[in-house]
Amino acid sequence: MKVCVVGLGYIGLPTAMMMAAHGVEVIGVDYNKDLVKTLNEGKMTFEEEGIDNLFKTAVNKGIKFSTEGVSADIYVVAVPTPYDKNSKKIDPSYVVNAVKDVMKVCPKGAIVVVESTISPGTMDRYVRPVIEENGFIIGEDIHIAHAPERIIPGNMIYELQHNSRTIGADEPGIGEKIKEVYSSFCQSEIVITDIRTAEMTKVVENTFRDINIAFANELTKICRQDNMDVYEIIRIANKHPRVNILQPGPGVGGHCISVDPWFLVGDYPNLALLIHEARKINDSMPEFVLGRISEIMEEHNINDASRVGLYGLTYKEDVDDIRESPTLQLLENMKRHLASGVKIFDPMVKNKNTVPNMYESFDEFLNDVDIVVIMVSHTHIKENMDKLKGKYILDTKNICNLDNTYRL
Ligand SMILES: NC(=O)c1ccc[n+]([C@@H]2O[C@H](COP(=O)([O-])OP(=O)(O)OC[C@H]3O[C@@H](n4cnc5c(N)ncnc54)[C@H](O)[C@@H]3O)[C@@H](O)[C@H]2O)c1
Repeated sequence: MKVCVVGLGYIGLPTAMMMAAHGVEVIGVDYNKDLVKTLNEGKMTFEEEGIDNLFKTAVNKGIKFSTEGVSADIYVVAVPTPYDKNSKKIDPSYVVNAVKDVMKVCPKGAIVVVESTISPGTMDRYVRPVIEENGFIIGEDIHIAHAPERIIPGNMIYELQHNSRTIGADEPGIGEKIKEVYSSFCQSEIVITDIRTAEMTKVVENTFRDINIAFANELTKICRQDNMDVYEIIRIANKHPRVNILQPGPGVGGHCISVDPWFLVGDYPNLALLIHEARKINDSMPEFVLGRISEIMEEHNINDASRVGLYGLTYKEDVDDIRESPTLQLLENMKRHLASGVKIFDPMVKNKNTVPNMYESFDEFLNDVDIVVIMVSHTHIKENMDKLKGKYILDTKNICNLDNTYRL
């Protein structure tokens, strides 16, 4: 069984390597020449616990990387699926283009598995037509399926092996064939269902998480207005055996939770009302953080935004992925309010030109600011908390117990 994984990003690459490490013949394909060159030089392209060892094992077992598609039995498509900022619907263009490329090289009988997160109906509306336009008959000379991914950056390697998976396939037997490949490394349950159910299930999972985060964030705003301690209230409420409120935060970023619920809002605008409100609440949090920063500046007569330092640029702790991060959203808001010169530090982000005023050195960063806003709870800040002594701290993650600490 030969598998071609198309798209070697945060999802496609570890998946391809995991399959290869477990004995599957794998070629990973990405149209990004630099990325493929880096991999072929034996260098990993992002940081993740345990990924360097997995990379070595996969290379030893013969994984190949290329910019060109090849003939294979199964194609796993793991390319981006953003949403259209106007219509809120899925932007299927990456998936469509990747499938078009697959059509140029795939033999009869191949299975095309879309692993990217897609809105319900995407396989029917966008993937089927591309395949049929290329003269293939689905169900006869080509087969399609959707197998979404659930792993969380920061714990990818463990979760690839231990999370339950879903495979959506409408033809009998096809789900089983795909399951054989994923079973090479996945030790958990693999549920086979139809394509539409698999599409909807994945989007629902991330939407559930977005709504629950929004509830905690809305509580924060209510509590702030009347000076109630939201963390204490959540702590006590969670002692109820059927209550489990999440922790509030500075917003929601990343490529999943802040994106996928929009697919439902875009496709079901008159029905996805709670989902839409949750998105709006979570998107409003960076602005709320900005309001809190202004209050602290006013209280301490700090008039210059360049005395404010944002700690953390990534969308979550201990990863290097900054996509859609609350800090990036906050910086956009600051620009609109003409608050320029704010300083940034993030130990996980190697490219210090990612945004203006980014520091290499934590100590220099601290020297140049009076207010530190903890946006991300990297292990690094937890281990260096003492260095914040003497600063005014806005702790959006509730991890700091120093004097002069403000919370959301
Ligand atoms: N990152 C996550 O935590 C996560 C978790 C679960 C699901 N997902 C979903 O997985 C999918 C992929 O996400 P990601 O984070 O890996 O994206 P990514 O941006 O990290 O990687 C995508 C890769 O696909 C490549 N690519 C795009 N079009 C291509 C084409 N036509 N041919 C070859 N290569 C192509 C890009 O160059 C890039 O390297 C998305 O649908 C995402 O929603 C992501």
